[in-house]
Amino acid sequence: TRRVTVRDIAAAKARHEKWPMLTAYDALSARVFDEAGIPVLLVGDSAAMVVYGYDSTIPVTVDDLVPLAAAVVRGAKRALVVADLPFGSYQSGVAEALASAARFMKEANVQAIKVEGGRRVLPQVEAMVAAGIPVMGHLGLTPQSVNAFGGYRVQGRGEDGEQLMADAKALEAAGAFSVVLECVPDELARRVTAALSIPTIGIGAGEGTDAQVLVWQDMAGLTPHTAKFVKKYADLYSVLGDAAREYAEEVVAGAFPTAEYSYK
Ligand code: KIV
Ligand code: NA
Repeated sequence: TRRVTVRDIAAAKARHEKWPMLTAYDALSARVFDEAGIPVLLVGDSAAMVVYGYDSTIPVTVDDLVPLAAAVVRGAKRALVVADLPFGSYQSGVAEALASAARFMKEANVQAIKVEGGRRVLPQVEAMVAAGIPVMGHLGLTPQSVNAFGGYRVQGRGEDGEQLMADAKALEAAGAFSVVLECVPDELARRVTAALSIPTIGIGAGEGTDAQVLVWQDMAGLTPHTAKFVKKYADLYSVLGDAAREYAEEVVAGAFPTAEYSYK
């Protein structure tokens, strides 16, 4: 099995094929999603919340994310693995962005990098593309800007929609291979998708995008509180809780381990 490449992703848009992306932060979940046929895995800076327990993505660092990205690459044989550059690792300029991206490429062996923002990070996107690094853009509700937005709210309504469209076109012109559209009106996402030749990946952006992405713990029902756009395909919070409670009861009662689980 060979790994999915950015060329495969481009070809899928030409064939009008929709595809799923999920986040992953460790080897075992990456393996499960890889074997389930998810073609692209994102080591998101959402690890700040779902792995590290912070309440925003702001605190997480390259040092925090690189080992997770390396584990995902080891766990997934076929998926294209994309890593987020976290807040504070690319905003100050081209040199910083290249150095941060290089760490993910060299130390974790990821195949692509994602950054938040449009025209304001264009020099960084162009420099990474020129260096041979596939770049995924991210527009709309870009969580690293939560303090500027004043909360997690829908972006791109009204006049802002034209700004988002211009950012999307600028990212495409700069050589980005795809762009995430987060929490934007479905009609705007549909228009951006039609205007671009690179794939759009929606999260809270309706059904009109080329691809979809969800944080895996949200999708699997492990996170207790989620946004309106999250569909829960399983109820892992109860499944894991029930397993832990049953294990605890059996240990306390002396019912585990029995001879079956012991060595003679
Ligand atoms: O960090 C993340 O999980 C993301 C996706 C939700 C797009 O950026
Ligand atoms: Na992210």
